[in-house]
Amino acid sequence: MYQLTINDLTTTQFLKQYWQKQPLLIKRGFTHFVDPIEPEELAGLAMEEAIESRLITNHKNDWQAYHGPFEEFTLLTDTNSTLLVQAVDHWHPSSAMLIEPFRFIPNWRIDDLMVSYSTPGGGVGPHLDQYDVFIIQGQGKRHWRVGMPNPSLKQFAQNKSLLQVEQFDAIIDEVLEPGDILYIPPGCPHEGYAVENALNYSVGFRAPDQKDLLSSFADYLIDNELGNKRYSDADCDQISSVGLIGDTEIDSVQTLMKDLLENKEVFKHWFGTMISQPKHDMDLAPLDEPFSHDALFDYLDPADTVVRAGGVRSVYQVTPEHIILSINGETYCLPATSLTGVKLLTDRSCFTVSQIKNALNCMEFMKVFTKLINEGTYYLQEGDELE
Ligand code: SIN
Ligand code: CO
Repeated sequence: MYQLTINDLTTTQFLKQYWQKQPLLIKRGFTHFVDPIEPEELAGLAMEEAIESRLITNHKNDWQAYHGPFEEFTLLTDTNSTLLVQAVDHWHPSSAMLIEPFRFIPNWRIDDLMVSYSTPGGGVGPHLDQYDVFIIQGQGKRHWRVGMPNPSLKQFAQNKSLLQVEQFDAIIDEVLEPGDILYIPPGCPHEGYAVENALNYSVGFRAPDQKDLLSSFADYLIDNELGNKRYSDADCDQISSVGLIGDTEIDSVQTLMKDLLENKEVFKHWFGTMISQPKHDMDLAPLDEPFSHDALFDYLDPADTVVRAGGVRSVYQVTPEHIILSINGETYCLPATSLTGVKLLTDRSCFTVSQIKNALNCMEFMKVFTKLINEGTYYLQEGDELE
């Protein structure tokens, strides 16, 4: 397990002073850092159809972008090239461990782990990201510059799929060494060029915008045949201008829409389902012979460990009636008594069978747990060596 130290800050102080406010260089955030993956393994992942990858080259300031999967890596030359692989946590369990130290931020805000390998001079150029990111320096060294958000900075497309930003003033200008970490809030311009062959790990976050939220909410209403109440105006008065839509009518339409948005039960069910949806494919191993819930209950050994598969998104919400558990875009309503079990599934990436055994006495919870084990979203590992 990687142990994170944020300079001399507690996580509470970091959240108050830096999170979404200003970039921070965290020197030796991980001491004695050991890379969870080798460049060759990363290249192997970039050859897979299901895994999103890109190769960027910048020879003599000529920026080129290529999309994976790759059959060979002649473009990854000795200098000025970078290979980037998205959602490595979904496919590589040891790399997924790098996300764990950042789980002082809620699960639903965490997106994925992107890993890049760059040769000297290689990078993706100056750019802005819409989301927070922690960039961890693995093997090698990389020179990073980070600035504060500046609305006057112009963005331009270097290449169809490579959006960059014009030169900016840096408030961080450092060569990162293994275990150093950069925290970059949304909208802060940044650029990093390898000094030596370098691996970098980006823990990225999610922050949906209003249109994403509203269009997903509308899709949810259609799928679940909700939101059928119509506009009505039994109190309609004669007015002098029939061409006018008055403020009272507008208020009524807004109330009609707000009533639905303010229905907490519907809203929470939709939000959990939507936000727990992974953006990238997963590497789950469903059981060849699925358990019935009785058979699983008998099979479970208290000393075994239950492991959440890499990249699985699990969150819960509480309503006065029950607990809404959402895992990878599926939502389950469970009785309030299953809170301990639900917290193990969502707050922890692994736990022992003995910790969850009591919760499994609740049939509704046991059924959900059996489904999760059968589909490989969670899996059993002998002994409690992960604890
Ligand atoms: C990289 O690792 O090359 C890109 C990371 C980033 O700038 O977001
Ligand atoms: Co970036």
